[in-house]
Amino acid sequence: MAEDRIPGFATLAVHAGAQPDPTTGARVTPIYQTSSFVFEDVDHAAALFGLQAFGNIYTRIGNPTNAVLEERVAALEGGTAALSVASGHAAQLLVFHTLLTSGDEFVASKKLYGGSINQFGNAFKSFGWNVVWADPDDISSFERAITPKTKAIFIESIANPGGIITDIAAIAAVAKRANVPLIVDNTLATPYLCRPFEHGADIVVHSLTKFLGGHGNSIGGIIVDGGRFNWTREGRYPKLSAPLAEYGGIVLAETFGNFAFAIACRVLGLRDLGPALAPQNAFLILTGIETLPLRMQRHSENARAVAEFLVDHPAVSWVSYAGLPGDRYYNLAKRYVPKGAGAVLTFGLAGGYEAGIKLVSSVKLFSHLANIGDTRSLIIHPASTTHRQLSDAQKVQAGAGPDVVRLSIGIEDKEDIIADLQQALG
Ligand SMILES: Cc1ncc(COP(=O)(O)O)c(C=O)c1O
Repeated sequence: MAEDRIPGFATLAVHAGAQPDPTTGARVTPIYQTSSFVFEDVDHAAALFGLQAFGNIYTRIGNPTNAVLEERVAALEGGTAALSVASGHAAQLLVFHTLLTSGDEFVASKKLYGGSINQFGNAFKSFGWNVVWADPDDISSFERAITPKTKAIFIESIANPGGIITDIAAIAAVAKRANVPLIVDNTLATPYLCRPFEHGADIVVHSLTKFLGGHGNSIGGIIVDGGRFNWTREGRYPKLSAPLAEYGGIVLAETFGNFAFAIACRVLGLRDLGPALAPQNAFLILTGIETLPLRMQRHSENARAVAEFLVDHPAVSWVSYAGLPGDRYYNLAKRYVPKGAGAVLTFGLAGGYEAGIKLVSSVKLFSHLANIGDTRSLIIHPASTTHRQLSDAQKVQAGAGPDVVRLSIGIEDKEDIIADLQQALG
């Protein structure tokens, strides 16, 4: 690449973070399938453990295959650094572990992936981390939810499963006024469709399991540091702003500057809680990312064609896809996801719960399973599966009422996808 050119997104998707292997010349990033790494000598070991030198110690804390993935996703998101972990949920766990202590609060959109609603409302409660829910369709509800104990705000850029486009910049303004970081789960959009840091986000998280990996073959998650938040103000984030005895008294925010958050998640959260990403999975996800721009274009084109088909179908009472003109989120979609509204859409069946069960049992090309972001077209009836553990009111709030069906449209021929739905809807 010419020195003076800033590489485009598709080039970064193929190359960012990777070099031919210096030892063997291997062009594709190898899977460094090793638990640990030999030190050069005692001084080198001491420098690594004291955070005075960067390098590999033990795969729970870092691995060279994972490091390429981290650099690549950081480049695609426009962040300063990233940390890959075992799942999307592990990414969320480490973010909040770094930000919160027992008794703290955070504000989260109530229209999130059902698993995140569970994680925040149940598991996090047992750590003394208290979630306060707000409505992404009413920005003032975020403002009202802020208290002196609030340490962060969490939203999804495109919410799963409702297809809601969140006004990231408006919520970033609330976070800024409250001096707390805005965390955006960018799983459904991916950085190809939306780059939350450009709209004021401070931290981005992903389930790599979905569109970044893209082939339904690996579970993974990642945390991307935006590098702009001031962690030292008022000492509200002690893991970043207070001296760490275990690391010779260094202050992470001072030593690591604009990538201190990613470092804190690694050297405290990942080290102590342990959800490391297997290098084999990092390899598969890296390979997937190389085609991210091509896949996201095709996913979005196919999903729009399916949404247009469903709108006209007599068995369908409503369709929620922000890429459809006239959709409630169409204007926000033009602003936040101008290249396309992604693969995921929901629709309502006039026949309600029973019709949902019948549809998922009748499709042939679609796979009935609990995932999104595969090359294959996927279908689920959230009320009977992913969201069944929520109360009826929470289901409706999360966009997963009894009549709702969620599709994750794959990259097959759109005519085949539509024909399958046509025969299954009867
Ligand atoms: C938007 C979103 N965030 C986070 C997650 C959790 O990711 P993982 O299953 O990799 O833990 C999911 C999983 O479906 C998701 O859809």
